[in-house]
This record gives sequence, structure tokens and C-alpha cells, in this order.
Amino acid sequence: MSARRPLMAGNWKMYKTPAQTAEFFEKFLPLVAESSHADVLICPPFLNLTAAAGAAAGSKVAVGAQNCHWETKEGAFTGEVSAPMLKAAGCAAVIIGHSERRQFFGETDATVLKRTQAALASGLLPVVCVGERLEERESGRTGDVLRAQFTDGIAPLEAAGFAKIVIAYEPVWAIGTGKVATPEMAAEAHRSLRALVEARYGKEAAAAVRILYGGSVKPDNVKGLMAQVEIDGTLVGGASLDPVGFASIVNF
Ligand code: 13P
Repeated sequence: MSARRPLMAGNWKMYKTPAQTAEFFEKFLPLVAESSHADVLICPPFLNLTAAAGAAAGSKVAVGAQNCHWETKEGAFTGEVSAPMLKAAGCAAVIIGHSERRQFFGETDATVLKRTQAALASGLLPVVCVGERLEERESGRTGDVLRAQFTDGIAPLEAAGFAKIVIAYEPVWAIGTGKVATPEMAAEAHRSLRALVEARYGKEAAAAVRILYGGSVKPDNVKGLMAQVEIDGTLVGGASLDPVGFASIVNF
């Protein structure tokens, strides 16, 4: 058994209104009230953070955002939200470098690093996403892609900062496609990430860092994934939108 505490996180992407957020929490919280085996995190769109944080107050469910700007001081950045603002709104965490941001919004390893540093400086838990695309896996480049994302997006962090992040491995071909990586495939990627961590930060850091799996996690496949000692939790998209379904994932 690993000593790492599981983190079961939901990424709502661009789904739900504030009213629907309140409805979700009303149904979800009682279903996870007894769940002490894992940390639970819900990441709604910015607009719903206040409603989510209000609804989750006093529960063990934490609320996170899906992105933050790398500038921590307020300023003229139309359309952006800073990490200190997220913290003030009741967030405990923030997803950084999700593949949809890399694919559609010009996110690079360099901006992933800067956002992660801003999140750390603001006392938020960064959940930093990495993962290969289908053509990269099919051409045998998964290891190289993960190495590059780690080397440029994460490894420049100092050890003290690295100790406060979570890594999420999300193979792009498994996101929203229903094609879940087999538990063995995910575990293999997690092992190669942990080896990169060990080479950069040492054995203790590698043993301590939580690596989540994301990509078509559902109530019926979560058990097999969580049975892998390498997999320290899940980052769930579509299946986190339903309170009953996500609670059964949390309670795997
Ligand atoms: P799905 O669970 O919908 O495949 O999304 C995964 C994901 O991108 C979570 O960040």
C-alpha cells in the first residue's frame, strides 16, 4: 500500500450554471459525507466558484478552478483571473495545463510553469496536467512527450514548490472519448513520470508525489484504475457532472 492519500477530483470544464452548481452540491455532499479515505475536489467554471465554495463550506469537499493567470498582482488583463482572486473566492486548488488549454488556448510548458508558480505563491494546490496525443502514443513517443512536458513545465520548480503540487496524467486520446487507458497502461505512464521525478527531486519526493489518472474515468472502471498502486487518484471530466455517479467514483 502506498502512503499517498487518494485525491478524487472532478473537472467540470464549461458545464453548469451557478444554480446547477448549488443543486449538485445539495445531492453530492450527503453521498460523500462518510468518505474519509480520499481527498475530494470539484473544479467548476470560474463563474460558479463562489456558489461552489459556499455550498461546500464546512464539508470535506474542496473547490478548485480550472486555470489561473501567471500574474499574481491585479492589473489590466482582460478576461483573466488571478490565483489570489481564486484563493479569496474560497478555492484550495487549480488545474493547470489541461490538454484542452494546450490544444485550444495556446498553453505551453512555459506558461504551465508560470501559472504553477503563481498558484504556489498564492497558496493554491496546483494540479498540473501532462499527457500524450494519440499520434504520439502510436508512434511510440509517449515517454518523450512526458519527459518534455515534465522537463520544461515542472522540473524548473524548486524542490519546496514541487512538494506542493499534484501531477495529473491525462492521455489526450482517452479524454471524452470513452477510451480509457487500461490500468496497466496508466500505471506504466505513472511509473515513467515518477522516474523523472526521482531523477530530478530524489527518491523521497518521487515516493510522495501524487499522480492522478484522467481520461474517461467512470463508476465502472474506477476500481480497476485505483487498484494500481501507482495511481493516486483520478481527474474526472464528464462523469463528475452527475452527483450520484461522481460520488460512486469517490467511493470506489
Ligand atoms: P473525461 O473524464 O470526460 O474523459 O475528461 C477527462 C478530463 O479531461 C479531466 O480533466
